[in-house]
Amino acid sequence: MRIPEHKIEEIRAASDIVEVIGQFVRLRKRGKNYIGLCPFHNEKTPSFTVSLDKQIFHCFGCHAGGNVFKFLMDFKKISYVEAIQELASDLGITIEYESQQSEEQLSEVEQLFDINLVAAKYFSDILLNEPNGEIARNYFGKRKLKQSTLRAFGLGYALPGPDVFVNHLKKKNVDIEKAVYLGLITKSESGKLYDKLSGRIIFPLFSPNGRVIGFAGRVLESSDKSAKYLNSPESKIYYKGRTLYGLSFAKEEIRKLEQAIIVEGYMDLISLYQAGIKNVVAVSGTAFTDEQAQLLSRFTKNVVLIFDADSAGVKASMRSIEILLKQGFNVNIAALPEGEDPDSYVNKFGADKLREIVKDSKIFLEFQSDIFYKQGLFDDPVKMVEAIRELVKPVALIEDELKRTLLIKSIAEKFNLREKLLEDELDGFLNKFKRERRQEQRIETAEVKSVQTTTIQQKKKISENLVVSEIEIIKLLYEGDRNLVEFIFNYLQPDDFEVEEHRQLAFLIFNAFNENEEIQLSKQIEKIESQSVQSYLLEITLEKHRISSRWEKMDSYSEKDILYKIAVDSIKRIKINKIETQIALCRQKLKEVKTPDEVAEILAEQRDLDLNKKQVESTFNISLKLKQSS
Ligand code: GTP
Ligand code: MN
Repeated sequence: MRIPEHKIEEIRAASDIVEVIGQFVRLRKRGKNYIGLCPFHNEKTPSFTVSLDKQIFHCFGCHAGGNVFKFLMDFKKISYVEAIQELASDLGITIEYESQQSEEQLSEVEQLFDINLVAAKYFSDILLNEPNGEIARNYFGKRKLKQSTLRAFGLGYALPGPDVFVNHLKKKNVDIEKAVYLGLITKSESGKLYDKLSGRIIFPLFSPNGRVIGFAGRVLESSDKSAKYLNSPESKIYYKGRTLYGLSFAKEEIRKLEQAIIVEGYMDLISLYQAGIKNVVAVSGTAFTDEQAQLLSRFTKNVVLIFDADSAGVKASMRSIEILLKQGFNVNIAALPEGEDPDSYVNKFGADKLREIVKDSKIFLEFQSDIFYKQGLFDDPVKMVEAIRELVKPVALIEDELKRTLLIKSIAEKFNLREKLLEDELDGFLNKFKRERRQEQRIETAEVKSVQTTTIQQKKKISENLVVSEIEIIKLLYEGDRNLVEFIFNYLQPDDFEVEEHRQLAFLIFNAFNENEEIQLSKQIEKIESQSVQSYLLEITLEKHRISSRWEKMDSYSEKDILYKIAVDSIKRIKINKIETQIALCRQKLKEVKTPDEVAEILAEQRDLDLNKKQVESTFNISLKLKQSS
């Protein structure tokens, strides 16, 4: 009995380590992480740390640590497979096994996927090739979609007949009951079968990994008679609240641009994609769920919501905005001219104009206060109080205090409002958390000691500077950012690390990167055999302040810049250290050699090294500037 790798991946991605551990350990937020009393050893002050970002835990006291599976294994004393099974069942994910033993379970989900695939192919074939798909081809033609786009998104058309599709399924020997379960067809009381999406344009819905989990069907002509869109019902393979339309297409670009544009409709997303704007997901007309936010947060924490004009958009989306804020997203809002949606806008004005609009997007608070200002609410003292209350309420959801303060300040300044007024309002909202927090502060903060880095350093006689630089690079490699990893490996090879453990850790990411694997720490950690190297890695990645005070700034805005600055700095130091070691070696040799020829040779070598050193210094000064200006 084997659980396929992609399934393990799916379960890991869907689970939230803070939530899982939170069931057994009382956790409280500190900085970016959560801390609590370690369940694996006796302690009075918490040194047990859980990272939401990185999806790992680590105890600085007893060095227990790992990903969510490891926690369940250690805590419940169960096996790896059992931990996976347990999480899967909590999450409502069905595991397909790669053996005969649970064939039934396995094949059920696989069969559902297969049926959806049969359906998707059928709908797409009608749209692309069938004579009576003409009407749908014309429709998409009018909406300016290219053939290649129709193919990329697997779009289709369901012929209008009452049971054309039913007959196709029968011909393909599809399990009819399962097709009914998936909502592709319906069965009347008398047992007669009907097509469900007949006469509709078909949008297949994909899992983040690109499997067809369901369909949305849009009427060709809008009429009051039937719903504009019909969606597949939820099923074992389709959870509405955990699905973001377009994510499978957008995820790489979202990571790359470190930003996700959120639109409402399927057509919005598809038109933007066709125009080359690919970091987009669609919420499909409903409010964002926690799970969707969580899913998205694995790719970026920066979102831009697009609304038309200064309409009721913000208000209607307040629920989504709140959920995003609570999960630490930076929420910006972009406005389109009255009456346009992203699809119509990009078709009329082109991608560059839309990019401009996204670029001009404003922090949600500023966006909304602009609207209030235009409505004159700040002129009337009574209305102003109401308006301010409404403005400040979502701010209270932001956990980062600095962020909150800055937001309030900027709004106060912009509209010439008394900052105190806003602060009082904010305090009101914060009040109910306050008592809780005060209580928590009474719990002494854990004194974090790093034993292991010092041991490693003593073991070898490597300068502290070099060790620190190497640690910085290792930390950066495990940030889960492919661009950053690529940048680093442009200059450094795993063999360039002096500390054996660092070499090993660098190799791990180096290989994962080249294999195009997920490079997330929470995945890679499982591959490290040595327990002590594992906890060493957890320790350095979680304990940011000790290594470099620069990392403290990471919580604030230009996070990315700082990462690259640290990278360039550290790479430079490692390179130069290598050269200096060689120069020192030359000096040593000079004392030992006798003949003039030998002396000349070594001096030449030394000159080369000096030159090399200068080169490295200037290269990195340049590359840092480039990185900053890009
Ligand atoms: P077009 O009119 O073709 O441009 O579609 P649209 O996506 O722009 O539609 P609209 O702006 O009306 O709705 C936005 C999104 O809300 C849609 O893409 C759907 O995901 C969802 N939606 C709209 N109407 C319905 C409906 O009747 N039923 C369901 N389930 N979802 C709907
Ligand atoms: Mn539209």
